[in-house]
Amino acid sequence: MSTNQIYQFFAKFIEDEIGVIYAEHNYYQLQSRLDEISHLQGLANVEELFQLALKGISGKLKQQLLDISTNNETSFFRDGKVFAALESHMLNEVLSRYPTEKLNIWSAASSTGQEAISLCIQILEWMNSHNKKIDFDIVATDISERVLTKARQAQYTQLEVQRGLNNELLRKYFLQIESNFWTVSREISSKIHYKQLNLRHPFPFIEKFHIIFCRNVLIYQKVESKIDILNRLTNQLVSGGYLILGSGESLLGLSNDYDQVVEQGVVLYRKRSTLLSAA
Ligand SMILES: C[S@@+](CC[C@H](N)C(=O)[O-])C[C@H]1O[C@@H](n2cnc3c(N)ncnc32)[C@H](O)[C@@H]1O
Repeated sequence: MSTNQIYQFFAKFIEDEIGVIYAEHNYYQLQSRLDEISHLQGLANVEELFQLALKGISGKLKQQLLDISTNNETSFFRDGKVFAALESHMLNEVLSRYPTEKLNIWSAASSTGQEAISLCIQILEWMNSHNKKIDFDIVATDISERVLTKARQAQYTQLEVQRGLNNELLRKYFLQIESNFWTVSREISSKIHYKQLNLRHPFPFIEKFHIIFCRNVLIYQKVESKIDILNRLTNQLVSGGYLILGSGESLLGLSNDYDQVVEQGVVLYRKRSTLLSAA
């Protein structure tokens, strides 16, 4: 087996599993990442890794391959206007439509947790300013165990908290544990439930969500896969529920199941009321 065929083998596994495509001209990136895994596995080279993979890719090896293939870039209150729109519009509308239900929110590619924490802080801020209580839960999922481990630890460096959090929110919702480290308060951590989930696989949820954040992840998928994931996300939303994509992403040509609502200068997708009977 030539080295190129070995890269093809791993590239195919990664594409089938996550949807990320390594084109041949990017094999040099794959090479350095596979070298890293070989080293972690205590193997001499990629050929030995290939021999191991031929016995079946599962457990730690599978997780390592998923980890090296994902871009986990995130920050607190990323594209902040979306969170402003959550406070000024989405929460009021969803709560008036479903006044007696527990509010279910899903951060569907949560990376190291900053998105879910920002959602939680924004809801708590809404409760403070409206002097009302909301019963809510946030489910945060990602394919990568490595980022989920960090998310569950909920410890962030000074540099990480400075990316998106102002001093007031930092002091209110975080505790300083060392000069360079902060952790979220119990009020936040008790509301967020992290789970490993591959968006390309069937979703395990029985409950429906009122708001789904699925930001900066569909961008890596082929069109057919985007459509499939979006259809399943739509089934998972209540009627009138909101789907939020990344600032560079849109539903154009991918789904007709939503009305566009522009709030705070950002596009929010509200599940169409024509689907009311189906939900
Ligand atoms: C660029 S980060 C975006 C994080 C956050 N949503 C944000 O916008 O700041 C993309 C995340 O999607 C995850 N991801 C990639 N493919 C996935 C898949 N098929 N299923 C679930 N998560 C996936 C990656 O592990 C990564 O943490």
